[in-house]
Amino acid sequence: MKIGVLGTGMVGSTIATKLIALGQEVMLGSRSPGSEKAAAWAQANGANASQGSYAQAARFGEILFNCTQGTASIEALQSAGAENLKAKILIDIANPLDFSRGAPPTLSICNTDSLGERIQRTFPETKVVKTLNTVNCEVMVNPTLVPGDHDIFLCGNDAGAKARVTDILKQWFGWRSVIDLGDISAARATEQMMPIWLRLYGVLSTLHFNVRVVAASRSSSQ
Ligand SMILES: NC(=O)c1ccc[n+]([C@@H]2O[C@H](COP(=O)([O-])OP(=O)(O)OC[C@H]3O[C@@H](n4cnc5c(N)ncnc54)[C@H](OP(=O)(O)O)[C@@H]3O)[C@@H](O)[C@H]2O)c1
Repeated sequence: MKIGVLGTGMVGSTIATKLIALGQEVMLGSRSPGSEKAAAWAQANGANASQGSYAQAARFGEILFNCTQGTASIEALQSAGAENLKAKILIDIANPLDFSRGAPPTLSICNTDSLGERIQRTFPETKVVKTLNTVNCEVMVNPTLVPGDHDIFLCGNDAGAKARVTDILKQWFGWRSVIDLGDISAARATEQMMPIWLRLYGVLSTLHFNVRVVAASRSSSQ
């Protein structure tokens, strides 16, 4: 498949490199196409790897990943262009972390709204699926870095898009348990996991951890 990955940070490059390893064609999109970083990634990842602007990557991809800084995601996606996002699945991994007052960051959107919802409202013809934002990027594409059973969450308004993304999570990235939390407003819950994630990181001193949901009974589809 042709996949557009927006953002050349740790997450964008980790996701894009994994997709290349899986045999997909990937264009990494950046604010600064041709930058040393973007060019080095494309050079290192062979014939299926390319780089360009956000708009070029969004146009290229049949499925898109939003791996941009959360406080800049709307602006980045506007620069990608609504027309290039239209009718496509956008897998939104971003968290609206605001570091403007130092660490720990706060959430620039929370409680009664979320970045996932804001993206869906801004691009109503795009199928936004929020997932993977609750784990470190190495764990996103290699969940076995965390031993035992653990869960990844997903939400979005389009059932077909969520089914497709669940397949990607399971078949490409190796997730065994994907919990569908419902419509895109559930992004409020998963984005608001950031404060506990940051606290756990401080206590555990490793990036390779996750949560496991334990219940008296669980649906066999999860
Ligand atoms: N790091 C993790 O393991 C992790 C885990 C879960 C979720 N997330 C979320 O995933 C997203 C990506 O995280 P990240 O750690 O890769 O890096 P990041 O520092 O949050 O930035 C990612 C990319 O956003 C792009 N960007 C667009 N507009 C920007 C602006 N105005 N200022 C700064 N950057 C801008 C930049 O790419 P270009 O320069 O190419 O345009 C940058 O490399 C974030 O929303 C983060 O909260 C990260």
